[in-house]
This record gives sequence, C-alpha cells and structure tokens, in this order.
Amino acid sequence: MNYKVFETTMYGDENGRLISFEKDVNCPFDVKRTFYIFDTKNDIVRGAHANKNSEFLLIAINGSCKIKLDDGKKQEIVELTNPYTALYIGKMLWKEMYDFSHNAILLVLASTKYDASEYIRDYDEYLKIVK
Ligand code: TYD
Repeated sequence: MNYKVFETTMYGDENGRLISFEKDVNCPFDVKRTFYIFDTKNDIVRGAHANKNSEFLLIAINGSCKIKLDDGKKQEIVELTNPYTALYIGKMLWKEMYDFSHNAILLVLASTKYDASEYIRDYDEYLKIVK
C-alpha cells in the first residue's frame, strides 16, 4: 500500500525542540497547502475519502489519533502518538481518521491546493475506480 510511517530528525534539546519538513529531505512533494484538524470529538470519524491527485504528510503535533488506510483490497491502521513521526499517504488511498485524543492536533501537509472535485467521498464509487 502506498503509505509510509517514518520518524524524522528532532533538533534542539531538553530546553526546546524543533522539527522541520523540507522537500526532498523528509517530504517528497512541494507543499502547496497546510491545514490542521483539532477539537475533534473522540467518537468522530474524519476523512472518509480518497484523493485522486493529492499526497499528504500527517503529523500528530499534539495528542494522538489513528488513521485507517484502505486500497480497496486491504485495510491497515496507523497510530500517530508523537510529533516526530510522520505518515506519508500517496494518491488514491481511502483514509479515515478517528480515535482523536481530547488534545489532538493533526497537522496535514498537502501536495495540492484544495480542489473538491478530486475527492471521492463514496466508498462504493472508490471501490469501482480502484478495481
Ligand atoms: P473535509 O475534507 O470534509 O474534512 P475531514 O476530511 O477532516 O472530515 O473538509 C471539511 C470542510 O473544510 C469542507 O467544507 C471543505 C473544507 N476544506 C477546505 O476548504 N480546504 C481544505 O484544504 C480542506 C482539507 C477542507
């Protein structure tokens, strides 16, 4: 499945830390958009879509959450629990974000500007396209 979980370099020390994402260092695409998801109730599922053109890096910069990834054949679950682990998600994977801790902030870096027409929000339609 076209995703990857990796730990990235932390700079600084016990007095304060810093993490950077830079193209071709620890981010494989030009970042055209960034957004963050916060204040999400624990029983809520976010996402539930696939993107035809976008790649993403997800980082739980505070708290934790889970991401279910689905390529139409199998499903895998990634849990993000710290600010130095990133999840890369390639194009056309179905994704659902859930089990947000009360303090979770999920930072998302995206390779595209927002375009509602590249979203597939119907799972049956997604299955038809990937099969
Ligand atoms: P949505 O993709 O449904 O959020 P989630 O996947 O977290 O459930 O987006 C929620 C709203 O925000 C929707 O009206 C579209 C808008 N939005 C933007 O305008 N720009 C963006 O970059 C994103 C991700 C969403």
